[in-house]
Amino acid sequence: MTGREIRLPETGLVVLVGVSGSGKSHFARRHFKPTQIVSSDFCRGVVSDDENDQSATGDAFDLLHYIVGTRLRRGLLTVVDATNVQTKSRQRLLALAKEHNVLSAAIVLDVPESVAAERNAARPDRADLPAHVLPRQRRELRRGLRSLGREFRRAYVLDGVEEIDAATIVYEKPWNDRRELTGPFDVIGDVHGCRAELEDLLTGLGYEIEHDARGRAVGANHPGGRTAVFVGDLVDRGPDTPGVLRLAMGMVEAGQALCVSGNHEAKLVKALRGRKVRVAHGLAESLEQLAREPEEFRADALRFMDGLISHYVLDGGRLVVAHAGLKEEYHGRASGRVRSFALYGDTTGETDEYGLPVRYPWARDYRGKAMVVYGHTPVPDAEWINNTICLDTGAVFGGRLTALRYPERELFSVPARETWYEPVRPLAAAPSATGGGGQRESDFLHIKDVMGNTGVETRLMGRVTVREENALAALEVMSRFAADPRWLVYLPPTMAPAETSSLPGYLEHPAEALAAYRDKGVPRVVCEEKHMGSRAVAVVCRDASVAAGRFGVDDGTAGALYTRTGRAFFRDPARTDEALARLRAAIGAAGLWDELGTGWLVLDCELLPWSAKAMDLIRVQYAATGAAARASLPMAADLLARAERRGLDLGGLRGHIDRRVANAARFRDAYARYCWDVDADGLGGLGIAPFQVLAGEDRAWATARDHDWHMDVAGRLADADPTGFVRRTGSLVADLAAPDADTAVAEWWEKLTAAGGEGMVVKPLGPFPADAKIQPGIKCRGREYLRIIYGPDYTEPENLERLRGRSLGRKRSLAMREHALGLAALDRLTGREPLWRVHQAVFAVLALESEPVDPRL
Ligand code: CTP
Ligand code: MG
Repeated sequence: MTGREIRLPETGLVVLVGVSGSGKSHFARRHFKPTQIVSSDFCRGVVSDDENDQSATGDAFDLLHYIVGTRLRRGLLTVVDATNVQTKSRQRLLALAKEHNVLSAAIVLDVPESVAAERNAARPDRADLPAHVLPRQRRELRRGLRSLGREFRRAYVLDGVEEIDAATIVYEKPWNDRRELTGPFDVIGDVHGCRAELEDLLTGLGYEIEHDARGRAVGANHPGGRTAVFVGDLVDRGPDTPGVLRLAMGMVEAGQALCVSGNHEAKLVKALRGRKVRVAHGLAESLEQLAREPEEFRADALRFMDGLISHYVLDGGRLVVAHAGLKEEYHGRASGRVRSFALYGDTTGETDEYGLPVRYPWARDYRGKAMVVYGHTPVPDAEWINNTICLDTGAVFGGRLTALRYPERELFSVPARETWYEPVRPLAAAPSATGGGGQRESDFLHIKDVMGNTGVETRLMGRVTVREENALAALEVMSRFAADPRWLVYLPPTMAPAETSSLPGYLEHPAEALAAYRDKGVPRVVCEEKHMGSRAVAVVCRDASVAAGRFGVDDGTAGALYTRTGRAFFRDPARTDEALARLRAAIGAAGLWDELGTGWLVLDCELLPWSAKAMDLIRVQYAATGAAARASLPMAADLLARAERRGLDLGGLRGHIDRRVANAARFRDAYARYCWDVDADGLGGLGIAPFQVLAGEDRAWATARDHDWHMDVAGRLADADPTGFVRRTGSLVADLAAPDADTAVAEWWEKLTAAGGEGMVVKPLGPFPADAKIQPGIKCRGREYLRIIYGPDYTEPENLERLRGRSLGRKRSLAMREHALGLAALDRLTGREPLWRVHQAVFAVLALESEPVDPRL
């Protein structure tokens, strides 16, 4: 016999129903993968070590339901192998399917009792089955059979052994699953009967409109092979609902468009069916216009609208279109709840002062990977909120009809030809999907974005995880940020020092830095002067309109200057403005706005002097140490001198103290070089030395260009600033294969540090060997500078010996991870990802900064 065809949802719940011995486990093994099958016997075994221990049944089913729920939540086909003859047991499973918005099917294996009994007699684990069990199970099964069709979306009763054996299974995709369609698409917002505007829009998008003999638009073909996607609400309110339907229906039929249902289509369907609906919100106009159409068109339109499904998942799951949007857990799911969300949105149950429903701000919390495009709520401008966008720009209310080009993410709109319908609420007063607060607030990081153990995905190092205690520490810092978080798009990574030198009198020396890169197969390096100031990140916008458009900051500021922990560098906003103005002018004068094709830049800089930010630290830590040494040591030297005069043999003590006196003086000189007075306001005495262009529009320059390019641009900025505020960073490129590379670099470094410089940073120049783990930079600090770090007497041989045991592993690992996170932040920023995604990486840098590591490194 030819087998029954059992149609099952590709993702969903399948419940096998049958008495013991009916062949459920056998059937399951034949048709499904082992991981798809969840059997009560197996669960009983897991919780009791005995698949037949009936006392474990309660726990076994708790486990079974947990597994089933988890799989369904994750969108996996799940087959339950248990007798399921009782309505009650099926209800619990159906509740899980409902909770996770998946379809369900039941397959009943109905065999004669004698067959089941005979089989069980032959099974060692069922031979002892009490005699009353089978008849009871059969009675329960019979009783439930009638209601099965109502319980499950599909129910199959396979009658007898032959039919069971012959049955075949075919899988059905959910209707909303059109992942195979990759576009490109033009997603079109709420049309509401604005036929002329729709034609304007399609023409503007490059479609060629097709007309019927009467000149009416009945199709639109895009020569570039693009597909239109309507977000629903084609109908009501506007002047030509039939015309819009005619065009959209023609396009859908010809494969030129897809269309999801809007709430207005759903209501119009009801009205056309003669059901009682409240004729409001423009329905009257549609009914009137449709009444003038021939019956056949009305029937076609009804069939079309009735057949519209609630959402589409497109392009491999990367694009979701639903009329009112859709939260992630509903993507690709099918249930009344999903449909209701897609058509009406998630309302809070309240109404606003205009009597309209207050919508739950689902987009604000959206964290899904798929882009969600929708309409439904008129907004003055289509704006991105966490990778979602509303395209209803109120065409029918005299606004615009808007389309989104996908995957380009470009908006295109045409103006309404007139105000076709008066809005209840002024268009400008429309709340965004964020629930009325500032729309950009939706971009802010949620605690769960960083507190989970999910880590941050980076290109360079894969997933970088953050420990909870460090996340908490970062949270503490971040929550006290003075800087507006919208500017906080990057935090600089830490950097490891060169391998400890073995040269007498040195802890760090260029030779080790060069050797490290040479060993990794790096061909060239650039040595950059390391200014001794404080790290500063500058975000510079060409003007306030760029700040508003790109960063959503509309308080008139056009940039920010913040420290490596994200605090505003200057307390005085006027000083920040002045510093940004100088940088802005330099960028402009150097011609970089045009050259880099951007209206904003993020620069990595050092701000001088050190004392500008660190004065408290200097006073408490360094000046105090220096003062104490300079006060006590001369006294000691004096005492020793007197003792010596009295003829006491002091061994080397006298020379030792003398050296310490000299060291104390050097210590003071060392830090004093980095401290100078600056004007109380304005920029007098201050300097900024940019050394890397991190990012601009659509481009992460940090990765797109080598460091010699960055040095060149930094030099041009310094040259372009006539005020001297923007400082130059000296640099030297070294070819690591050249025989004199080490000598040349060492000489350059000695000269730099002898003149009071902190030292240098060595950075690799490409091309890089693909697989080597390369430090993003290695610092090599000067001998005198290190005196500030390790104390006045660190150069004494016994101290140096001890310090040579310092361990760099942790610092290096930290530097690599923070670097990877920094680049991830820039990638996300320039990839126009939502701000919370950028902040996720930025926050992780901050969190890693609280990992315990030797602060002197
Ligand atoms: N069997 C068979 N031919 C079939 C189906 C089953 O010979 N077409 C045998 C199986 O090999 C097994 C016995 O019948 O030895 C019972 O089948 P099983 O699939 O284990 O029955 P279930 O319905 O799973 O029984 P239970 O509820 O007791 O787990
Ligand atoms: Mg079984």
